[in-house]
Amino acid sequence: MFAIEVRDLVKVYSGGVVALNGVNLVVDEGVSHAILGPNGAGKTTLIRIITTQIKPTKGSVKVFGFDIMSQGGRVRGLIGYVPQEMSLWTELTGYENALIYAKIYGIESSKRAEVIEDVLEFMGLKEVEKRLVKTYSGGMIRRLEIAIALMCRPKLLILDEPTIGLDPRARMLVWERLLAYKKEFGSTIFFATHYMDEADKYADKVSLIDRGRIVAEGTSSELKKIYGVDKIVLRVVGDMEKARKVLQEFGFDVSISNNGEVSMAVKDPAIMLPKVIEGLYSMGIAVLEARVVEASLDDVFIKLTGKGISEEEERELIRDILSTRRMIRRGG
Ligand SMILES: Nc1ncnc2c1ncn2[C@@H]1O[C@H](COP(=O)(O)OP(=O)(O)OP(=O)(O)O)[C@@H](O)[C@H]1O
Ligand SMILES: [Mg+2]
Repeated sequence: MFAIEVRDLVKVYSGGVVALNGVNLVVDEGVSHAILGPNGAGKTTLIRIITTQIKPTKGSVKVFGFDIMSQGGRVRGLIGYVPQEMSLWTELTGYENALIYAKIYGIESSKRAEVIEDVLEFMGLKEVEKRLVKTYSGGMIRRLEIAIALMCRPKLLILDEPTIGLDPRARMLVWERLLAYKKEFGSTIFFATHYMDEADKYADKVSLIDRGRIVAEGTSSELKKIYGVDKIVLRVVGDMEKARKVLQEFGFDVSISNNGEVSMAVKDPAIMLPKVIEGLYSMGIAVLEARVVEASLDDVFIKLTGKGISEEEERELIRDILSTRRMIRRGG
């Protein structure tokens, strides 16, 4: 049985936007599985359907064998969910937020205090539990949202952009705890992200999504092996144009960056690097510096879709989310 089984899923929003256009996807039990893609690819739509918040236009979804349409209650009972947008009351303390959700989730009153203490301790929030959430950092807010999602010990944890807008240290802390939870309870983690490195580092399996379609799937190293190419990057002494010419004559597709680095894709960089340096040297060009850059998921995405995840879009999305969070915190 799969933790999640999505078949031929289509979602057309009123107004005609086709957010999902025939998605097929299975998530194995006990793994961490990422859905990776740019803004508007359909990640949140997919998560909203799996978590039974919105209905599909066509297709089916099962969660541990339960159908999202006819057995929604059973499905919700298995899932812990952290949405993309903030889901806390900022004028309350961390503990009070957890208490409200404990009541919503129907945790028995005699058990609530213990459950809350447990998850707050687990997420490293014990010391700040009595502080108002509006005084929390972005990382603390995200960890509190995750703590709350863990109160019912979900078999399946679904997170929409778990670390968006967080600095690297805060991101690491979030993931260290998520993976500890997965290990301790054998739970499944399904998360949406547009951070290549987050999918690369923390997902056992990655599904790439673009414009409502899954374009590739596998472990990150499988994807890089199949679709990615390693690069040799050089700094040469003197005439870069001459270097470009020589390398092109060797048969490489060469590009020169603004900062004067000469780079080219190669299949077997460890074998090719000394040959390239020697070849250039024999033509009177000395190499000052050389390095091998391994293929990234970004390269894979570019190869498959013809575009990367635009930095500009990403910055805009983070700006939006952070300003919404600040506004909510101010009570605006
Ligand atoms: N309620 C809605 N009504 C109409 N269109 C919507 C609605 N929600 C999302 N869309 C559209 O559906 C498409 C997919 O959006 P979705 O939010 O699922 O993408 P995403 O991959 O989560 O993007 P992001 O990285 O920005 O969170 C987009 O074109 C979006 O504008
Ligand atoms: Mg989204």
